[in-house]
Amino acid sequence: MKPKILISRVIPEPAVELLRRHCEVDYNSGDRPLGRAGLVRRLKGKRGLVCLLTDDIDDAVLASPGLEMAANVAVGFNNVDVAAATRRGVLISNTPGVLTETTADFAWTLLLAAARRVGEAERFLRAGKYKGWGILMLLGVDVHGKTLGLVGLGRIGQAVARRARGFGMRLLYTDLSRATPEAEKEAGAEFVPLERLLKDSDFVSLHVPLLESTRHMIGERQFAMMKPTAVLVNTSRGPVVDEAALVRALKARRIAGAGLDVYEREPKLSPGLAKLENAVLAPHIASATVETRTKMAMMAAENLLAGLNGQRPPNLANPECWDARAKA
Ligand code: DGY
Repeated sequence: MKPKILISRVIPEPAVELLRRHCEVDYNSGDRPLGRAGLVRRLKGKRGLVCLLTDDIDDAVLASPGLEMAANVAVGFNNVDVAAATRRGVLISNTPGVLTETTADFAWTLLLAAARRVGEAERFLRAGKYKGWGILMLLGVDVHGKTLGLVGLGRIGQAVARRARGFGMRLLYTDLSRATPEAEKEAGAEFVPLERLLKDSDFVSLHVPLLESTRHMIGERQFAMMKPTAVLVNTSRGPVVDEAALVRALKARRIAGAGLDVYEREPKLSPGLAKLENAVLAPHIASATVETRTKMAMMAAENLLAGLNGQRPPNLANPECWDARAKA
């Protein structure tokens, strides 16, 4: 008998087809999250769940009788209460690796757009304000030859570093733990404390997961340390930045600009943020290419199929849960 699963929200079709071949699928093919009540209701009798970062997979959802595994279609899994999942014996998987290069491309898109005021320039042009070329019109700042500070030198941080080579940049990084000498050499990045990185960098790009230790890692105090010409780029998770403090820093020109893909209370923006000309704002699309989103969904599907088949899913967020199962 095929295992029963729920797909919480629309995902790329190849992954749905794969899952349908092996499972009895309840598919919320609409592009709206089901919410906690909807998830709990539709999970009845299901062994597996494919979920997205817009689903809050909390203890109430994880308590669904018979639920064995949830495969999150994202590398980040801060939307899942992993500790509760482990306690309840529910395997959780994510999608690392497949979105690394695409996300790094987008961090650079934001960095360049913020440095060269592309959003502002486009709005200016479309509003019919371009009345002729001017030598002082919309001056940005150079990127090449500057210092880039990477907060996090994991897969995505390293991919961002690789792209910096072409711009002849000096690279600094900081992380929760120091990278191996090989990784540092490969990235061409010098390990420094966060304070030094903030003081010395022209561009600061965030690549850390959202953890209790990284929540509001960049706030009032950190903005005060940055150069007034600096640009902050965030493609990690919104709550890593104190967004109200960021709005104040941008308004007061305490820093020059920001390129943001993620927000503290997504999809809501902090008051005033949308009005700031020196912020380039994108709606969480760093991994949004046809190729990458398809790969992410396929990876989640493959993880789930492995787990439901009694095999160790390749991308477990709670391997301790698997180990406990294996011992039982
Ligand atoms: C992730 O995977 O965590 C991104 O934020 C969405 O692609």
